[in-house]
Amino acid sequence: MRQAGRSLPEYRRVRADVPMLEACARPDMIVEITMQPVRRHGVDAAIYFSDIVVPLKAIGLDLDIKSGVGPVVADPVRDADGIKRLRELSPDDVPFVTEAVGTLVGELGTTPLIGFAGAPFTLASYLIEGGPSKNHERTKALMYGEPELWNDLMRRLSGITLEFLKVQIAAGAGAVQLFDSWVGALSAEDYRTSVLPHTSWIFERLGELDVPRIHFGVGTGELLSLLSEAGADVVGVDWRVPLDKAAQRVQPATALQGNLDPAALFAPWEVVAERAGDVLSRGRAAEGHIFNLGHGVLPDTDPDMLTRLTEFVHEESQT
Ligand code: CP3
Repeated sequence: MRQAGRSLPEYRRVRADVPMLEACARPDMIVEITMQPVRRHGVDAAIYFSDIVVPLKAIGLDLDIKSGVGPVVADPVRDADGIKRLRELSPDDVPFVTEAVGTLVGELGTTPLIGFAGAPFTLASYLIEGGPSKNHERTKALMYGEPELWNDLMRRLSGITLEFLKVQIAAGAGAVQLFDSWVGALSAEDYRTSVLPHTSWIFERLGELDVPRIHFGVGTGELLSLLSEAGADVVGVDWRVPLDKAAQRVQPATALQGNLDPAALFAPWEVVAERAGDVLSRGRAAEGHIFNLGHGVLPDTDPDMLTRLTEFVHEESQT
């Protein structure tokens, strides 16, 4: 999950003099940082080192990632003129992705590489608000008040997202994950009207490419059935809904990913083991289960706890 590397001293070392978005555009950095958690923890898959705003930067938007804050957009997108700035993404805009994925696939051998992109709602929120937002008020104002503009924005972002994922798949990514991190801010009704058509479009097109598709959002307990309707093979669940309950909310034949609370890793090991065991046993109620945290690794997490957790999950899932 996001920031698995950030808890690692070796990550901090290589990132010390390199700004985040520069690191995301340098194949040597991408390869090294992607490999770090795989080397250290022996996890079953690697997640490509990048960020959801990388394709937006690649089409020329003036944005940055501020440490401790997140993505910040210099000139937020709030009207028709702003939306027109969102041109299509071409593979030539992100040559570093093709290069880094190619190298990684060679280095990883049998360990799969998961590519990813941000989903249109979450990207729209950063673009419209200009940065991270608690209430997404400007985003919702556009969504509720100007549905035509909203749909134009979502269509453009969907095209960029699909193209960014296709570049990763063409270069050898073995699975893709679509992060709609902040979509839990919406009611089911608003999600169905304003978001679902766009994410469904993305998953439908990805379906032609024959790679497993994962879809994740935070605080999506009430949206799990709709998130699943959008068409992913795997739905990620944060820590708020136990997996046996989540299994009843998703479409038939949909696997789950999750869902240990990342904050639980700050408790004593016995507690972590008990909770991880509970996640594994509830996950057996699902069509399939990829063990993971319910959200990104928190920066102060003890890396040894992550290694121990990975070993525990490997042992327990053999039985
Ligand atoms: O382990 C990895 O390196 C995975 C790569 C990854 C990053 N961002 C690197 C990153 C992934 C999958 C993401 C996705 C991402 N980025 C999401 C969706 C996933 C999720 O967790 O919800 C979102 C919402 C973002 C936007 C974003 N970028 C946030 C909220 C932050 C954290 C800001 C902070 O410092 O608290 C970032 C920065 C970011 N992206 C970092 C990393 C490793 C931290 C950069 C640093 O300061 O070292």
